[in-house]
Amino acid sequence: MKDPSTSSRIPGFYRKTLAERLERLTHAGQLGEASRAHLADGGALPVAVADRMIENVVAVHGLPLGVALNFRVDQRDVLVPMAVEEPSVVAAASNAARMVRFSGGFFTESTASVMTTQVQLDGVADAESAPERIEGARDALLAAADAAVPGLVRRGGGCRGLETRVIDADDGLVVVHLYVDVCDAMGANLVDTVAEAVAPSVHALLGGTPGLRILSNLPLGRMTTVRCDVSADALGGAELADGIVRASRFAEKDAFRAVTHNKGIMNGIDAVALALGQDWRSIEAGAHGFAALKPGGYGPLATWQRSHTGIAGTLTLPLAVATVGGSTGVHPGVRAGLELVGAASAQELAGVVASAGLASNLAALRALAGDGIQKGHMRLHARKQAGPALSERSQP
Ligand code: MEV
Repeated sequence: MKDPSTSSRIPGFYRKTLAERLERLTHAGQLGEASRAHLADGGALPVAVADRMIENVVAVHGLPLGVALNFRVDQRDVLVPMAVEEPSVVAAASNAARMVRFSGGFFTESTASVMTTQVQLDGVADAESAPERIEGARDALLAAADAAVPGLVRRGGGCRGLETRVIDADDGLVVVHLYVDVCDAMGANLVDTVAEAVAPSVHALLGGTPGLRILSNLPLGRMTTVRCDVSADALGGAELADGIVRASRFAEKDAFRAVTHNKGIMNGIDAVALALGQDWRSIEAGAHGFAALKPGGYGPLATWQRSHTGIAGTLTLPLAVATVGGSTGVHPGVRAGLELVGAASAQELAGVVASAGLASNLAALRALAGDGIQKGHMRLHARKQAGPALSERSQP
């Protein structure tokens, strides 16, 4: 049983051996015995399991799995597993989370897990009247959608609405969106099922030529926001606070910078997503798609303002993450990661993933506004070159 008072602050964690680190995580009930044994054995995915997951398997591919420390998310201490090949991502996120912790940690809000799925028709005659025609059949369409996913409806999910978009009236290109609450699943299969089930009725109502029936990876009904405050003292001074705000403004004004700024955010988000067996390609696609919807064109997902005591940061993005389904049930390493995080719902998990993103952004901007990124990078790079015997002196 996980001890809810367990701290994510584990001083000297980096100095311990791998076995001691696992022992420490197991100690307060943060890892069950099966997960501990799996990780102690190297944490590799058994090749027999891999063979059932994808096609033409020849082996399994490994990545380092680390644990970011110091995270406090919505008043709860959380250990954050990260799978990533880039040195300094785990240390940077842990460092930033420590600064944020002094001001109470990260605070998150997530909408319900409402995915968008699309049904396309071309050559619809009188396309402008399509929304009205679909509206007239709304209840029947929603009922057909729910009937396609009875298990989801039993779990409290189901189709919450629909919308008709006339994308090109001249070509009769009309798309019907269905909005489906997928609860704690990622939901791709569920909403693809819904789109395929409803498409014949949509076609019968609108005519034209049937087209695609597939989810959109821009789920604007599945948004997560995370906020945090950091004092200038924790950052290392008012100059660094100003520098971070200037860096944020740079990203708000320049797409070339915004892409790199967002890459720094995704360093954290992707690493956690990978460790937890999430569909990180869909998260990436959604994040950059959302960034492109900003009023002035592609912009930063996270921004920073000056506050009374230091800086305040906010990150908002669509985040389709799951605590059930996909590889969460089959991959023992993923199960161990989810155990560590201890999120009770997809929304709670999204809050943790987003916090890792905001922490990674903070760490990058603080380094860039201070000594530059290379100093820390090169220190950790040197460690890599030196081989495994060198202790992790440079980490928090
Ligand atoms: C490197 O992986 C990420 C950064 O380039 C992000 C940024 O510039 O904000 C340091």
